[in-house]
Amino acid sequence: MGRAVVVVAAGSGTRLGLGTAKAFVPVAGELVLARALAPLFALSTPTLVVVVAPASHLDACRDVVASVAGAAVAYTAVVAGGADRHGSVQAGLDVLPDSVDTVLVHDAARCLTPSSQFERVFTAVSASGGGVVPALPVTDTVKRVDGDHVVETVDRSALVGVQTPQGFPLAALRDAYRRSARPETDDAGVFQAAGGTVLVVPGDADAFKITTPWDLGRAESIVRARTAGPVGTTRVEGTRIGLGVDVHAFDPASACRVGLLDFPGEPGLSGHSDGDAVAHAVCDALLSAGGLGDIGGRFGTADPRYAGAGGDVFVRGAVSLLAEAGLVPVSVTVQVIGNRPRIGARRAEMQDALAAVVGAPVAVSGTTTDGLGFTGRGEGLAAIATALVRPA
Ligand code: CTP
Ligand code: MG
Repeated sequence: MGRAVVVVAAGSGTRLGLGTAKAFVPVAGELVLARALAPLFALSTPTLVVVVAPASHLDACRDVVASVAGAAVAYTAVVAGGADRHGSVQAGLDVLPDSVDTVLVHDAARCLTPSSQFERVFTAVSASGGGVVPALPVTDTVKRVDGDHVVETVDRSALVGVQTPQGFPLAALRDAYRRSARPETDDAGVFQAAGGTVLVVPGDADAFKITTPWDLGRAESIVRARTAGPVGTTRVEGTRIGLGVDVHAFDPASACRVGLLDFPGEPGLSGHSDGDAVAHAVCDALLSAGGLGDIGGRFGTADPRYAGAGGDVFVRGAVSLLAEAGLVPVSVTVQVIGNRPRIGARRAEMQDALAAVVGAPVAVSGTTTDGLGFTGRGEGLAAIATALVRPA
């Protein structure tokens, strides 16, 4: 009567955009994988745990498992993942002993899932003998679209958003995966395609999947709120604020790149690099928050590696210097000052592009100077940024 959980953690985290496998990204000081595993080792019934990790991270994964599991766990295994989630789940199922009768498959990326959700799914699989998925009602109004045209409103009362862990009788899930032609996006889809029946149990809002930088920020806020003092207080120990200002003159001969976005048809900015004043101000704000100097001192114009470099190179460089100093960005704001390019219509896009590199939310705003000064005369563009950082 054994039970097991396969935790898939072999994804690359492309949409998070931090250049690190998602399971190895910290959330408020602890890795996604460590947070995902912690509730498993708090379960009341002994449970086998298999972690499917990127082939490049097997040793790192074993270290995380050892640090979370302690000595009390009888069996854990760490195996290399496949090219896609489907392959990774199969790799995990392959190493389970046949004594296991019920298996749960869980995304490490849903790292705040409480242990009660695992218990609920195990209980429902035992009671039903079929597949079980945790799900939440859809709260937004849902529409079917064709391109940018709305076709119709879909009746949301018949829809749910599905989470993990998803639970199954092991033999039947293995059989379903063996026969699967792979179009399904979750384990229940594979199970159902092979003729299995799947039941729904209530999910939990905390079991959301970390996909984008915004999700990561949300996870950090939830963890902080759990450990914070009374409502209305903010934990500020160790947080530091930084400021960055940058100005570039217009140079109509070069391409316009502002806030990591291209603005075709707009005059570009002059400079040793691509003249992206917004990215440079953000870089300086991050560096100054860490007491790490400034962009000129760190990525000097004398260094040929930075000639013509994109603004992302400097922002990424600042984030890794912060990491070396044991600091991570919490949030960044940047204001663009100038007549052109108009950023209003592309504000959200710019925020996303910057946030993907900073690894924390970025707020962008824009203003003009009422015709006054060099920005008012259209001679150049200025940007002012602030950054908040905290100990990793
Ligand atoms: N996963 C996996 N093996 C893969 C791909 C995904 O084990 N080859 C896992 C991820 O680690 C994650 C879960 O499946 O826990 C859900 O996938 P997703 O959220 O898409 O994560 P990533 O693939 O890492 O992210 P992205 O798609 O943005 O690259
Ligand atoms: Mg993926």
